[in-house]
Amino acid sequence: MNREDFPMLKQDIIYLDNGATSLKPQIVIDKITEYYEKYSANAHRGDYDISYKVDVEYENARDLVVSFINAKCKEEVVFTSGTTDSLNMIASGFFANLVEPGDEILITTSEHASNVLPWFRLANDYNCVVNFVPLDDNLHVTVDNVKKSITSRTKIIALAQVTNVIGDVRPIKEICKLAHENNIFVVLDGAQSVPHMGVDVQDLDVDFLAFSGHKMLGPTGIGVLYGKKELLENLEPINLGGGMNESFDSPKEIYLKELPNRLEAGTPNIAGAIGLGAAIKYLMNIGIDNIHERELHLREYLIEKLVKLPFVDLLNLEADSGIVTFNIDGIFSQDVAYYLNKYNICVRAGNHCAKLVKNATGVTNSLRISLYFYNTESEIDELVELLSDKEKIMKEMI
Ligand code: ALA
Repeated sequence: MNREDFPMLKQDIIYLDNGATSLKPQIVIDKITEYYEKYSANAHRGDYDISYKVDVEYENARDLVVSFINAKCKEEVVFTSGTTDSLNMIASGFFANLVEPGDEILITTSEHASNVLPWFRLANDYNCVVNFVPLDDNLHVTVDNVKKSITSRTKIIALAQVTNVIGDVRPIKEICKLAHENNIFVVLDGAQSVPHMGVDVQDLDVDFLAFSGHKMLGPTGIGVLYGKKELLENLEPINLGGGMNESFDSPKEIYLKELPNRLEAGTPNIAGAIGLGAAIKYLMNIGIDNIHERELHLREYLIEKLVKLPFVDLLNLEADSGIVTFNIDGIFSQDVAYYLNKYNICVRAGNHCAKLVKNATGVTNSLRISLYFYNTESEIDELVELLSDKEKIMKEMI
């Protein structure tokens, strides 16, 4: 699907590491180049034509994010450097002022490091407790298990909507309902979901959402922090500086701008935001539901073939996403990745930055295929053909 739009796909590669980062279509590359070639000025600072053009393009990108995730208004959308930045801002800028000793934060063992470590730090700094929602036999989160994990001290539930190793899609809408009935905030890590499926923040009623541009056809170094406006109003800026203050005369007289600028100190990643806007336009043109459907089809196609190989141990047979994780019996995952690399196939091996998931799976390292809509059945055929011969893998892996 749309392969001709991606310059990287003109090379002789099979790219199956979209969970790490996605490829970029020419239209996104052109939009970024256009900024640097034709109107490369700063945003929100100049009084000349090209700086006005920058303001318009930068804010257009924000409007595109607003409509893509169905935020209520642009004050709810802050540009950050990525999911990690957004999650750290939420933990340190919002919850650090709110939690009390003994408060509980609920996560799971299958979260990515960026949705674990900010909560560990919050717990260490403010004497809170991090608890884990137990996963079911498929390593999924159920509403029932969330319900059982909630106590009178639970203040935050922080979950990925789709996890980067197990690829399970969590029942976030139901979890938000349950959380709000118990006065609990929900923080959503959308790094692996927003690029692949429709995410409507109002429908989910999530309090905060974090995601990255580079996993959704945009450039690296740009991401989004969404928050309900009344909550973002209370998020303390971690960074102070230009662009976010109205005026200052002394330490006691610092006046900040309104949202979203208040949370975007310094020169923003203008090219990144504009590139992300172009990526969102491109995704909207294809249709996010079409993208999701295509990925589910590719997943099924791959799984059907992998289950026929007796030496393949699948970690996530059941998952409604393009993430397929497994091991080849008795062979270290990284060795399989090196072997596939000899055939120009790009996959990820290791712990995938989700270092607690081994507690649930019993598996420390694995091989991960993460699909996007531009992957094809014939690429999967080639992959499976190479994986089908265990002796060949053993012979060629080093
Ligand atoms: N979070 C990215 C991944 O899962 C880097 O590969």
